[in-house]
Amino acid sequence: MTITHDFSGATVVITGAAGGIGAASASAFAAAGASVWVLDVDSGRGEAVAADIAAAGGRARFQRCDVTDDAEVERAIGAVLAGDGRIDVAYCNAGVGWTKPVSTTEPDEWRKVLDIDLTGAFLTSRRAFLAMRDARSGVILFTGSPHGYRTMAETSAYAAAKAGVGGLMRALALEAAPYGIRVNSLLPGAIDTPALRAEAELSGDPEDAIRRWGAVRPLGRIGRAEEVADLALFLASPAASFITGAELLVDGGAMAAQPAGLATVAPK
Ligand SMILES: NC(=O)c1ccc[n+]([C@@H]2O[C@H](COP(=O)([O-])OP(=O)(O)OC[C@H]3O[C@@H](n4cnc5c(N)ncnc54)[C@H](O)[C@@H]3O)[C@@H](O)[C@H]2O)c1
Repeated sequence: MTITHDFSGATVVITGAAGGIGAASASAFAAAGASVWVLDVDSGRGEAVAADIAAAGGRARFQRCDVTDDAEVERAIGAVLAGDGRIDVAYCNAGVGWTKPVSTTEPDEWRKVLDIDLTGAFLTSRRAFLAMRDARSGVILFTGSPHGYRTMAETSAYAAAKAGVGGLMRALALEAAPYGIRVNSLLPGAIDTPALRAEAELSGDPEDAIRRWGAVRPLGRIGRAEEVADLALFLASPAASFITGAELLVDGGAMAAQPAGLATVAPK
């Protein structure tokens, strides 16, 4: 289901928008009338996302941007400002997963995940905030993760990075509030995206992994990228005008549940 929001006249920048949650969000914002900037390191898929949006009647441009490189982030944000003269929504979504425990994670592997998932979020949100601060309005969104709270031993660097995104989001929300800029995080899981499919492949039986990840959720399934996009549009819209510094789950109820095996009382 897509709730109707009107982003006509708004400029929306989304990192990691060449696939998964970012691409679905780019399509949804464009369908709601926004001028969308698709930022990603993957030029081929990023161009394709922008072309698909244009073919559907929307406005989208691809801009190559490696979120770990501040010069590229500055160039990308500069291109948006040169093109549209404004940034109304910046969705700092780019990220990579990680499936190794602390003991076997090499320092360079750790730095790479933290560089993309946490420092990348810092660099893009910082440049977007500087642009929005002059305009004294805007919305900044992050894609965090429930792994910032509850994780697994194998998800070491990812869990640390996503917990860090929560801290970054809260600090920026406080700094941005006097300028009328709202800052929030989405905590999705598990969402059917190329990244999730790649992780399922590691299990040796990807279809079984997808089924299991769905079955443990109270709603009994994994989520769709469009369902995360719906939350992004809500948080960016005036309907969320009093929401800032918040983390919103879109996880099929998983975080509400105690781990299996903790039930002590038989239902009456
Ligand atoms: N899929 C899930 O279940 C899930 C759950 C929780 C959080 N997330 C988070 O959601 C976000 C999107 O994930 P997804 O599942 O859509 O993954 P995805 O792999 O489908 O998309 C991620 C995108 O980020 C891009 N990217 C990677 N490194 C980059 C860099 N240095 N600079 C710019 N772009 C870069 C990739 O090219 C890709 O297009 C990530 O931050 C991820 O951690 C996903």
